[in-house]
Amino acid sequence: MTAPNDVIYETLVTTESPDGVLHIAPMGVRYRSAQRGNQAVDQVVVMPFRPSTTLDNLLATRRAVLNIVTDTRLFAGCVTGRREWPSVALAGGRGRRLSVALRHLALELSDVQEDPLRPVLTLDVCEDLTHAPFPGLNRAQAAVIEGAVLVSRLHLLPLARIEQEMAIGQTAIDRTASAAEHEAWGWLCEAVAYHRAHQNEPQNDHQSDRQQVAA
Ligand SMILES: Cc1cc2nc3c(=O)[nH]c(=O)nc-3n(C[C@H](O)[C@H](O)[C@H](O)COP(=O)(O)O)c2cc1C
Repeated sequence: MTAPNDVIYETLVTTESPDGVLHIAPMGVRYRSAQRGNQAVDQVVVMPFRPSTTLDNLLATRRAVLNIVTDTRLFAGCVTGRREWPSVALAGGRGRRLSVALRHLALELSDVQEDPLRPVLTLDVCEDLTHAPFPGLNRAQAAVIEGAVLVSRLHLLPLARIEQEMAIGQTAIDRTASAAEHEAWGWLCEAVAYHRAHQNEPQNDHQSDRQQVAA
């Protein structure tokens, strides 16, 4: 179902636990269109690595909200322990969207392909609403997204490679960042520096499992 060269879009997925606790996670998603009878159904494919709160919430509630966001502080924030961001309840109990989302898609789980490491979840789009115009592409935002991916893989990738790639991103930050991207980039640089200072400390089992997957 997921061809390796499918385009991946970086988004924030909001889910809730069965008792209503909001969870925000950056996730790369793919868009699909399926035929159901005479009707075309828009779908989103999400692939969370186990263990994942997003996965647990999705399996328990069968609901998620896809948030399309250009404030990259949310990506950098979520991977550096800053997961508290304002949200708004959707009508009809369809979950919560991020207040800064330019657009959101309310999703309902329609298929799960089980996998011990990374299940493939397909969700139907049941609402698609735009809240603000997309202002265009910004190089510093792309650098923050790339940096956030690197920080989320600090325990999987060699530190030298991460620092090399962060140095490339720094140029885009220096030339094109607004205050928001400077703040986000600062959090990411702090996380890399913290990892450098603590890299010789023993890993937990979950980290070493993932390292083997990335190798
Ligand atoms: C831009 C970006 C895209 C990401 N995409 C994925 C993804 O597709 N699957 C995944 O498991 N983690 C992805 N991550 C890492 C997760 O956001 C992070 O590990 C998160 O904590 C997921 O676990 P959770 O569901 O328990 O929060 C991504 C991180 C970033 C910054």
